[in-house]
Amino acid sequence: MSERIIVVDFGGQYNQLIARRVRECHVYSEIVPYTKAMEAIREKRPKGIIFTGGPNSAYLPDSPAISEDVFHLGIPVLGICYGAQLMMHLLGGHVCPAPEREYGKTLVTVDTNSKMFQGVSEQTVCWMSHNDYIQAPAPGFTVSAHTGNCPVAAAEWPDRGLYCLQFHPEVLHTAEGTKMLSNFVYNVCGCTGDWRMESFVESSVRKLREKVGTGKVLCALSGGVDSSVAAVLLAKAVGKQLTCVFVDHGLLRKNEGDEVAAVFGPNGPYDLNFVRVNAQQRFYDKLAGVDDPERKRKIIGEEFIRVFEEEAKKIGAVDFLVQGTIYPDVVESGLGGESTVIKSHHNVGGLPDYVDFKEIIEPLRDLFKDEVRAAGRELGIPEKLVSRQPFPGPGLAVRIIGAVTPEKVKLVQEADAIYREEVEKAGAQKNLGQYFAALTNMRSVGVMGDERTYDYAIALRAVLTTDFMTAESAQLPWEVLSTVTSRIVNEVPHINRVLYDCTGKPPATIEFE
Ligand code: XMP
Repeated sequence: MSERIIVVDFGGQYNQLIARRVRECHVYSEIVPYTKAMEAIREKRPKGIIFTGGPNSAYLPDSPAISEDVFHLGIPVLGICYGAQLMMHLLGGHVCPAPEREYGKTLVTVDTNSKMFQGVSEQTVCWMSHNDYIQAPAPGFTVSAHTGNCPVAAAEWPDRGLYCLQFHPEVLHTAEGTKMLSNFVYNVCGCTGDWRMESFVESSVRKLREKVGTGKVLCALSGGVDSSVAAVLLAKAVGKQLTCVFVDHGLLRKNEGDEVAAVFGPNGPYDLNFVRVNAQQRFYDKLAGVDDPERKRKIIGEEFIRVFEEEAKKIGAVDFLVQGTIYPDVVESGLGGESTVIKSHHNVGGLPDYVDFKEIIEPLRDLFKDEVRAAGRELGIPEKLVSRQPFPGPGLAVRIIGAVTPEKVKLVQEADAIYREEVEKAGAQKNLGQYFAALTNMRSVGVMGDERTYDYAIALRAVLTTDFMTAESAQLPWEVLSTVTSRIVNEVPHINRVLYDCTGKPPATIEFE
């Protein structure tokens, strides 16, 4: 059995990232829920254990916990954020609400003599996200890092192999986080790093062929990166047993429907069965007057499935539905257990309880966006499509705050097209993770041609991110913003104000709803 690290899930948002970073160090890693952790650890004898973060307070009686036996197995344990607080709490330290919450990038001073911080700069930027803090470490531990507000940013008991980090080494905003995790895996746990990932495409094609057999498959294709990669992967695995259904729900970006049809339709480079369903009115009717974001998402998710079921009936005897769900969609829709629902991504939490397919296949479910793009390149999908910015399943409905109307869709489509055109003309899109226009529900007073106006505000957003779990607002050149603003207010009727969103994620999300 190859060396492995077990990641014990206490409900944090970044759990899969921890496992991914460990795998990037060439050590196999898997996540187990905290309720099953002791069993899994005893059975699998890992070289190390990592406790994840989580939304609870370690000192409350009903919070997720683990038996103290875990510290007596002779296996090194690293606690991260909630995991760190839990370790301290269980071993007699003092954890309580922090007088100053720490959120975001924070300068941390570390003890570079610690095995955890070998090769790390003494002052290093780390990603903090906590309401509680470790006021005093447990007896036997020494403090190995601190910040201005946090006396115990890291603590350790090297002889027992116990380490705690209050910050998140797994997110890329922690500048030297990967180094720290690699230190834990190699210096503390003594791993040799002999594990290599099988090519994702190779292994998926093999597994998909096994699963599908001679069955028929329907793929929900939106033209976005995720569903395109899922579709081409399935096409490679099962060829013409696959039919791709593209639903134009009337919530797409300007001209997008025709662009998708041009790539995947009969005149495009792929040999797919492709069906385009024009279902705009049907979605507008269902969404009429609905302004609650979660309800909008659920309605769109459900309607999607209904459309697919109808198409499946037309094709006949379809067993499987393929979706391009990726890992962040799963996390934010709630992982089950301790995780909190941030929003129901339409291809996961938005699904109705009853779905009329034998099985839903989500081949990209464990991947992050950059891994999906890498898989797309491995599949030979053109770079233009692979590097496309993401577009959410519920489309412009989550970029129109409040109730959706066809008129509002048109406004946001036009404003967004202008924004994208100008950003691309200026070459400013290169480092951006995502950039788009959203229609706020705010109307305000303006003046145009000596006339009073009372019209809507468009919000522009541009973010820097690689994994879409955290993001920073991008500083677009002012000339670009001012050209976009003047074009939008001049060319799009009923918009008299343009705002720029400077918020990161957290505390905002990337989309507005
Ligand atoms: P948020 O807004 O949650 O977005 O910070 C993170 C990333 O996910 C995309 N997103 C979605 N993708 N279905 C999708 O396929 C959805 O329901 C959905 N909601 C958000 C969003 O565009 C961003 O890239």
